[in-house]
Amino acid sequence: MIKRRCLISGISGQSGSFLAEYLLSLGYEVFGIVRRHSVSENQDNRLHSVRDKIETFYGDTTDPYSLAKIMREVQPDEIYHLAAQSHVRVSFDVPAYTAQANALGTLHMLEVFKEEAPGAKFYFAASSEMFGNNTESDGSQCETTRMDPVSVYGCTKVFGYNLARHFRRAYGLFICNGILFNHESPRRGSNFVTNKVVKAAVDIHLGRQDNLYLGNLSACRDWGHARDYIRAMHLMLQHDVADDYVVATGKSHSVRDLCEYVFNKLEMDWHDFVRVDPKYMRAEELEFLMGDARKIKNTLGWEPHYTFESMLDEMIEYWLVKSYIPEGE
Ligand code: GDD
Repeated sequence: MIKRRCLISGISGQSGSFLAEYLLSLGYEVFGIVRRHSVSENQDNRLHSVRDKIETFYGDTTDPYSLAKIMREVQPDEIYHLAAQSHVRVSFDVPAYTAQANALGTLHMLEVFKEEAPGAKFYFAASSEMFGNNTESDGSQCETTRMDPVSVYGCTKVFGYNLARHFRRAYGLFICNGILFNHESPRRGSNFVTNKVVKAAVDIHLGRQDNLYLGNLSACRDWGHARDYIRAMHLMLQHDVADDYVVATGKSHSVRDLCEYVFNKLEMDWHDFVRVDPKYMRAEELEFLMGDARKIKNTLGWEPHYTFESMLDEMIEYWLVKSYIPEGE
């Protein structure tokens, strides 16, 4: 049987690495695009378990020549475009790079897809950050909620989202936008708030750290598990109609709730350790996210398996185990 071929941009990221493992388990041939880093370990430290089963190419969304060469060589059946400067607060520090990598980068990916592999199916990682502070009357966000982003990152994702819809209509290409709400796991970068809190709480619990400095404690997010969300990406491309879908748990918690749950689990009171440092505040904040994922549930039968609590339990367990293993082992 001929194996289906997939190409993942951002394969070395949290979602890309889970997606690679999942697609391998379904029998795909997996190809990935990795950006060159000065420290070579940073290129594939999330890919250890699949390193010898996948093929990766150096490429960059800011370099369309590299993308065209890879697309021509791989001739994928499915393309998952996840690569981005994905940190919202950092997008205020490096706005032009964020726009190059995320907005123009998505234009490059779509153009290269159209020219080199138009028969493939294309997934674009849009984001709940696109909504900004707009909600429906019940406080949730769904596919039709008006977009009004409050960060450079959010603006770049709206650009990519609109471009994806335009290419779908104009050229009849199969392109889906996944409007994913926050998704986490032990593989999350430790400058995102969930892993930052869990890692610091474990270090405080073990007497290795005294305090944890955070920004806005009132912000609320709809946090799911990345493993659940990569199944949603795959499902979108198996459907016979290309469409856009919100992927979320439907439950929202504040950063304060997050601290309370994690510190309680480790038998500590978060009030004793968490401090606010204005440097982690954002110039404009997205205060509240709570996704309404009825469309993907009803159309594609997607359901999350993890809860907020079971996701955090897994992350706490991961950092506890890792902390007890001496360096170098
Ligand atoms: N990172 C961080 N660090 N966030 C903090 C901190 C802190 O010290 N203190 C409070 N927060 C608040 C942020 O202000 C934000 O409201 C919330 O915690 C979540 O921040 P992040 O974990 O950095 O994620 P994000 O919501 O900004 O963005 C993530 O989710 C998007 C989907 O909604 C990223 O994964 C994006 O790439 C993704 O598109």
